[in-house]
Amino acid sequence: MSRSAIFVGLSMFLFVFASAVSVKAAEKRELKADLEMHHPKGWQFTMPKGDPSKGRAVFDKFSCYSCHEVREEKFPAPGGEAVGPELSQMGPLHPLEYFTESTINPSAVASKKYRGADGKSKMPSFNEDMTVQELIDLSTYLASLRPTGVPKFVTGEGKVIALVSGSHQVVVEHGEIKGFMDAMTMGYPVDAKLIKGLKPGDMIRFTIDTEKRAITKIVKLKN
Ligand code: HEC
Repeated sequence: MSRSAIFVGLSMFLFVFASAVSVKAAEKRELKADLEMHHPKGWQFTMPKGDPSKGRAVFDKFSCYSCHEVREEKFPAPGGEAVGPELSQMGPLHPLEYFTESTINPSAVASKKYRGADGKSKMPSFNEDMTVQELIDLSTYLASLRPTGVPKFVTGEGKVIALVSGSHQVVVEHGEIKGFMDAMTMGYPVDAKLIKGLKPGDMIRFTIDTEKRAITKIVKLKN
C-alpha cells in the first residue's frame, strides 16, 4: 500500500469516526430537548381563563350557594350539615388552579373541621355532572371574587404555627376576622423583621393589609 493510500484510508476513518461522534452529540442534544419538552422543569398545570359571568351561572346551576355564602351576592342563604367557607374573599388568595382543584378534588386541601368520619371533605363531588367548560368558567368566577367594603387594614389574633423566613411567611391559626375572613390557618407574607424572635406556639395580634394580603404589624401576646 502506498503512503497516500494509507493517508486517504486514515482520513476517511477519522472522518467517519468524527461524524459518528457528532451524530451522537446531536442525538444527545435532541434527546435533551425532547426530555425538556416532555418534562419541562417546574412544570405546573395551568387552567385556561373562562368567562366569570358564565361561571356565576354554573355556581347557581349546581347550587353551590347551598353550602357557600358569597357576600354581596344575592344567592339563597346556605344551610345544612356540611356548610363550607364563605367565598367572597377567596379571589386574591389563590391562583386559578386552586379553585379548579377545590371543585374536582375537595379533599386535597380541607381542614379537619370540614372532613367527615371517613377523613374526606364533606363537599360532594360534581365530577360526573359538570362539563369541562363549566369547570373552567366556574373556576374563573371563583378567582374573580373580591370582597367589597373591606377596610384597608384589619386586625386578628392567633397562634403562630410556622415561620418560613426564607420565603418571608408566617403561618397563623387565627379566629374569625370580622367582615374579612373566617377562622382558618393560613400563611401570610410578612417582612422578615417582623417575625424575628417569634416561634411556633406564640400568640400574636397582627394587622393585615387587605389589599396586599400581607401582615404589616405583629404584637406578641402573653401565651
Ligand atoms: C354540601 C355542601 C357543599 C356544596 C354543595 C359545595 N361545597 Fe364547596 N365546600 C364544602 C366544604 C365543607 C368545604 C371545606 C372543605 C374543603 O375544602 O373541601 C368546601 C370547600 C370549597 C372551596 C375551598 C374553600 C377554601 O377555603 O379553600 C371551594 C372553592 C368550594 N368549596 C367551591 C364549591 C363550588 C364551586 C361548589 C359548587 C359546584 C361547591 N363548593 C359546593 C361544602 C360544599
